[in-house]
Amino acid sequence: MAETVEQKQEFSRGLEGVIAAETKIGYVDGINGILAYRGYDIETLTNQSNYEEVSYLLLYGKLPSEKEYIEYVSELKKEMYIEDDVYELIKKISRTAHPMSSLRTVVSYIGGKDKTSVDPDVKQQEEIGIKLIAKMPTIVAAIKRASSGEDFIKPDPELSYAANFFYQSAGRKPDTVEAKMMDTALILHADHGMNASTFSAMLTISTLSDMYSAITSAISTLKGPLHGGANERALALIKETGSPDNAEKVLSEKMEKKEKIMGFGHRVYKVYDPRAKILKGYAEYITKKNGQEKLFQTATKIEDLMVNRLGEKGIFPNVDFYSGILYYSIGFPPDVFTPIFAVGRISGWVARSYEYVQNNRLFRPRSRYAGEKAPRRYVPINERN
Ligand SMILES: CC(C)(COP(=O)(O)OP(=O)(O)OC[C@H]1O[C@@H](n2cnc3c(N)ncnc32)[C@H](O)[C@@H]1OP(=O)(O)O)[C@@H](O)C(=O)NCCC(=O)NCCS
Repeated sequence: MAETVEQKQEFSRGLEGVIAAETKIGYVDGINGILAYRGYDIETLTNQSNYEEVSYLLLYGKLPSEKEYIEYVSELKKEMYIEDDVYELIKKISRTAHPMSSLRTVVSYIGGKDKTSVDPDVKQQEEIGIKLIAKMPTIVAAIKRASSGEDFIKPDPELSYAANFFYQSAGRKPDTVEAKMMDTALILHADHGMNASTFSAMLTISTLSDMYSAITSAISTLKGPLHGGANERALALIKETGSPDNAEKVLSEKMEKKEKIMGFGHRVYKVYDPRAKILKGYAEYITKKNGQEKLFQTATKIEDLMVNRLGEKGIFPNVDFYSGILYYSIGFPPDVFTPIFAVGRISGWVARSYEYVQNNRLFRPRSRYAGEKAPRRYVPINERN
């Protein structure tokens, strides 16, 4: 019999190393520690730009002119509100659901109310994407407040995207440094190659399903601890360690048990994660300001010990190591860390899905069959033992 495609092709578990799409959006160089969006490295963007502009850049491939920027920001502000029934839904489900489950449900519910999601053309996909970018901070902040039993705070049109997210979540307006820190964290999470959640969004849109469904898929995928949950666990490790003096003992015990230390190592980066470098500076500032220096000192001691032990193998802090203490120090509960990731990543999800669907090809990998050979004899039920 002729060989099938499945028998002929190289097999890569988990699609590791497989290049399945071409993109002009984001570039990750894990050997040299570079992350760039549309050719602009993230140090430049976090220093000189803001989340709204970066969102436009990811989506449209260029920095906006002043006029385009004003139009984009006013579109985001127009679309950032959610309706009363959405707040009611959030209140109802957030009593019991994990914030990521609530987020998945809410995005799906909003999609169900939007008639343009039935059979969207490419233009409608783009418009839905912008609605979702605009609404994401409002939804996540509302989920955060409902799950902490706090009253909702509506968006303030005077505030920037990041400051508005901070305000609606914390219930107070951020100071200048807090606003810059939030903006930076969102930019740093906006895009990162064809990671699992981004792939999920692209896979869904490749069936010509709608952008709400693509983003619901992405949220579902980000929820898993191998993807979005590491900063929650990194913070737990730092808190469990308690002080720099305990770090050696805690790490040794974990390493002896072959446990992975959360917030270290990366599939792509084999040098210091450029995002972690930037967040470390903010974590130092904010923990000091909020009287939580010990958390930061413990974290840096863990970092020193880990780099000493495993730096040679390319193990360094990743983005999750310092983002956890940063968010915690400004008052976010740990179960909201992954939804904050989603607020940043929404622009990357939308941009990559939109880029893909404009030159669409249905994703359809195959699996190698390793089961019983056909044809097998069918055994009637009364003859089976
Ligand atoms: C992200 C991760 C899955 C990458 O795994 P990977 O690509 O298999 O890692 P590497 O192949 O570079 O690992 C090299 C060595 O360092 C070890 N190592 C990697 N990450 C480690 C960690 N966080 N803690 C302890 N040891 C680690 C590996 O076990 C391996 O050891 P070995 O040579 O004895 O087999 C892994 O580093 C990890 O689980 N990190 C913790 C979770 C986390 O922070 N995730 C968020 C990523 S943004």
